Amino acid sequence: MSAKFEHVTLIEHPVISRDLTVLRDKSTNTADFRGALKRIAIILAYHALKELPLKTFDIETPIEKTTGYDINQEIMVVPILRAGLGLSDAILQFVPDAKVGHLGMYRDESTHEPVDYYSNIPNGVEDAMVLVVDPMLATGGSANDALSFLKKKGAQHLRFISLISAPEGLKLLGEKHPDVHTITAAIDERLNKDAFIVPGLGDAGDRYFGTL
Ligand code: PRP
Repeated sequence: MSAKFEHVTLIEHPVISRDLTVLRDKSTNTADFRGALKRIAIILAYHALKELPLKTFDIETPIEKTTGYDINQEIMVVPILRAGLGLSDAILQFVPDAKVGHLGMYRDESTHEPVDYYSNIPNGVEDAMVLVVDPMLATGGSANDALSFLKKKGAQHLRFISLISAPEGLKLLGEKHPDVHTITAAIDERLNKDAFIVPGLGDAGDRYFGTL
């Protein structure tokens, strides 16, 4: 589970390999696309939450006293709209009381620069473990903007979770946010002239929401 980028963990798993194939296949229908994305999201969420701090307390089982554990840090999930919504539920399954912030941005088709259209970040971002989720890291412009925005709001503990990453986007995040660990299920070859990931899966938001 290593990658040539220092701040990046590439998660390898047979279920991911199979489901990435489902996602990449242009003939996959919306229902199967959603199913495959959600299964990968669960594996990524499991890894993203692996190093959370724990606190201990005493509990009593029906047999005797023992030590109980709880997560000792607030979790905040921040999907980058729209496509990030497909990843956030997986984290909420593990941490049902996590707060959820939303950042709305789309990529301008000609400049490839992110355009912000919405933000709603709950209180408590300063101390929380903030998990920013977006299935696609292409140029990295959207993720870079999202992370900078959250840092301006006071976020100090940030992770970025992506399904498919381009080397160009990983490089940008490494330069701009070396403190932010990225967890990804694939590092693809490159971007094409339209800044789409190659081989990629096309537009994740359109395929997930059926807006093709
Ligand atoms: C896609 C994707 C990322 C962004 C990645 O969103 O979900 O947010 O582009 O590109 P970047 O790394 O070059 O910034 P899109 O603009 O298609 O919006 P959508 O999620 O609403 O479909």
